[in-house]
Amino acid sequence: MLLTAEDFEQEADRLLPLEVFSYLAGGAGQETTLARNTAQWAEIGLMPRHLRNLAGGTAARQILGAALAFPALVAPMAFQRLACPEGEAAMRLAAAAQGIGMVLSCQTSVAPEDLPQAPGPLWFQLYLQPDPQVTRALAARALAAGAEALVVTIDAPINGLRNREMRAGFRLPQGVQAVMMPPPPQLPEGGSLVFDGLMALAPVWADLAALCAESPVPVLAKGVLHPDDAALAIEAGCAGVVVSNHGGRVLDGVPGVADVLPAIRARLPGLPVLADGGIRQGSDIFKALALGADAVLIGRPAFYGLAVDGARGASQVLRRLREEFEVTMALCGCRSPDEIGPETLYLKR
Ligand code: GLV
Repeated sequence: MLLTAEDFEQEADRLLPLEVFSYLAGGAGQETTLARNTAQWAEIGLMPRHLRNLAGGTAARQILGAALAFPALVAPMAFQRLACPEGEAAMRLAAAAQGIGMVLSCQTSVAPEDLPQAPGPLWFQLYLQPDPQVTRALAARALAAGAEALVVTIDAPINGLRNREMRAGFRLPQGVQAVMMPPPPQLPEGGSLVFDGLMALAPVWADLAALCAESPVPVLAKGVLHPDDAALAIEAGCAGVVVSNHGGRVLDGVPGVADVLPAIRARLPGLPVLADGGIRQGSDIFKALALGADAVLIGRPAFYGLAVDGARGASQVLRRLREEFEVTMALCGCRSPDEIGPETLYLKR
């Protein structure tokens, strides 16, 4: 019986070609950060509180004007047609069915105009492109299709070296592609591919500030791990940040989000702080909120659900996470997400 996110992960592993599963599940380098992402939540305990009257309680939360049935959105993930033919369209339906939002990746394999009309917030993730006109056009296309916030990924100006994915020989199958993206820029021959090629074209804080200044919708910076970078993102005009190590997919050895979340929350009091990485149970969502997140992004578990049973599978995974979150809230005596604070945790010393 497929019950939990982990059940869906195992089933997706069974169903998907090895190279596709290696692309989805794998991380950078030796995958120490990938492993940390899930292990970090297990190290944090919960402190139950009893006999409180929680009648009328709710898991719902508003964030940047978006109403969420529980404090989560589906994380931006590229190429969702790797999981099922409807790809991002199916994910949009799954998120809507569970009353939460979806962050569409700019590497979407379904055009934003082709997503189904569905209730629930739609945000758009993008990378700052070497040509600001291209960045502008990507954002404008997503906004025209209904996106209500932009999530700019700042932690991956170059791809991580993902040993597992490379060893499995992952290539995009025929018919699955990043339908919004222009062809990659021509890189100069010779010299350092990293410094003379990719980093020579990589964005800097001023580019983020320029996008924020023009954007008619709030912009979040995603991929923040250092409190100073969180402060710089706000200085650049961002409404908030997503604390993330990109699912352990970019640089191996960086901290888990739980390690750095409290310091970033302390640096940005009152501002939207989201977090992602290793969320596999509703209690992980609860712990992220207790450490200072306003909401989480759910990545791989939703993708695995999609791979197992399309929109229905992803919806089932999200519903289970919500149930687990609500049970955790109730048993820790919290009537609403606002009541989830550090005192709801049991931190071993
Ligand atoms: C893309 O951002 C990826 O992590 O594969």
